[in-house]
Amino acid sequence: MMNKKELMTHAKKATAYAYIPYSKFKVGAAILTKDNRVFYGANIENVAYSSTMCAERAAIYHAYMSGVKKKDIHAIAIIADLPDVVAPCGECRQVMSEMLNLDTKVYLGNYKGKIKETTVGKLLPNGFDSLAKKLK
Ligand code: THU
Repeated sequence: MMNKKELMTHAKKATAYAYIPYSKFKVGAAILTKDNRVFYGANIENVAYSSTMCAERAAIYHAYMSGVKKKDIHAIAIIADLPDVVAPCGECRQVMSEMLNLDTKVYLGNYKGKIKETTVGKLLPNGFDSLAKKLK
């Protein structure tokens, strides 16, 4: 199983696919499955700004569209060029809390090599999940 540093290197590579004409701010993400497959995501912006897709969600949807299920996912790494590690937006925390297990590892990084390890559940304590649970 690859380590968090190696997965972060993949997240950095994913930034090459960012479409960022408005913010010029690249974000990359990489999902690692338990069977060692990696799925990339990068932020894809839009002139209607709210239609922008963040890197984390792009990676999650990429994995799901390749047949990956939440039980198959080991970790997600997210990176941006910031003084400290990147902090996922609220919308991504909400999506992560439904599409990934709450104990799935989240590695937050920056280009200087700093990596903070957390989990989906820690990033969104007490998240809204009642309807999703009811539908199961
Ligand atoms: N962005 C992400 O892709 N992920 C984050 O965690 C934070 C924000 C993107 C959205 C937008 O394209 C750009 O960063 C500036 O907000």
